[in-house]
Amino acid sequence: MAEPTRVLVTGGAGFIGSHLVNSLLDSGYAVAVVDNLTTGRLRNLSHQATFHHAALNDARIDQIIQRERPEIVFHLAAQSSVRQSAVDPVADADSNVLGTIRLISAAASEGVAKFIFSSTGGAIYGNPETIPCNEDTPVHPLTPYALSKHVGELYLELFNQTYGLDYTILRYANVYGPGQNPHGEAGVVAIFAGMMLEGKRPNIYGDGLQERDFVYVSDVVAANLAAIRRGHGRTYNIGSGERVTIGRIYSLLQDITGFDQEPAYRPRRAGEVLNIALDSGRAARELGWRPQVSLEEGMRLTIDHIRDSQARRNSRATAVPERRRP
Ligand SMILES: NC(=O)c1ccc[n+]([C@@H]2O[C@H](COP(=O)([O-])OP(=O)(O)OC[C@H]3O[C@@H](n4cnc5c(N)ncnc54)[C@H](O)[C@@H]3O)[C@@H](O)[C@H]2O)c1
Repeated sequence: MAEPTRVLVTGGAGFIGSHLVNSLLDSGYAVAVVDNLTTGRLRNLSHQATFHHAALNDARIDQIIQRERPEIVFHLAAQSSVRQSAVDPVADADSNVLGTIRLISAAASEGVAKFIFSSTGGAIYGNPETIPCNEDTPVHPLTPYALSKHVGELYLELFNQTYGLDYTILRYANVYGPGQNPHGEAGVVAIFAGMMLEGKRPNIYGDGLQERDFVYVSDVVAANLAAIRRGHGRTYNIGSGERVTIGRIYSLLQDITGFDQEPAYRPRRAGEVLNIALDSGRAARELGWRPQVSLEEGMRLTIDHIRDSQARRNSRATAVPERRRP
């Protein structure tokens, strides 16, 4: 494949997508974005990207791909809330299954060289027998969201075998960082931090001993960039491998924000994964990818960002409107 210059990012106005778009623009790519702005925001998106306000399952997707002629498609657009997928599994499948099939199919017919798919390592394995789990651990989705992601993976395998579409699947752990949507797959850091900084007491669902694997957003972006040239037809876990309890996240954030109240404990939610951590050894060996940002450093960067945005919001709200001249 010659040096790719044109890329398409679906979900580019979202949390991870907007970080990826900035990084691709910085590296000199011409970036087009498709986003329906359900959870994404235009203010997240650089003016240097070409924006298409469209849903994945919109018939215009084929024309957008024909017009933009991307060499690489980064597919991040998704109904990204695990909880919402249980409330409305049909809408979840509409976006994550049918929308993904439409995009894969358009990419294959338009000769896209590589399709890089954002899947989930945090949800796809369910409650595995051994932790950390690697990519050979059997998948066991416990929610419509996790299942819809796995179906997307299977379609990619099929389009690869039958029509030769090259792909890499990236199964992320819990991604966190500046600009995170608190309603997404793993919004706990954004939710806790935002509430603590406003002096509000966050809820913990369950006993707080459930373990998760947290990976900082710039590391996830780096995995996407590494997949441009490597990992053909392969699936990778993208996580830190570190097992961190939700209770520990709470106290780390307390230390950084100075918030001194205990959490309010609520009953565990149905379908919630109990403990998960990912073995990303394959990504290290084949993509040369390793997480670079420690949990403490990532949390600090995230809190700094939330503090800045809250301060900007407050100053806008309290700004005295300029008086009209008599
Ligand atoms: N955040 C995490 O911890 C995490 C973990 C594993 C996997 N992922 C996956 O990574 C991707 C990005 O997640 P995120 O956290 O940035 O979520 P996000 O909700 O911030 O971003 C998703 C983006 O997709 C757009 N979108 C949603 N449905 C769409 C549709 N049908 N058509 C067009 N655009 C649509 C939204 O407006 C939003 O901009 C998602 O596929 C998500 O499932 C995220």
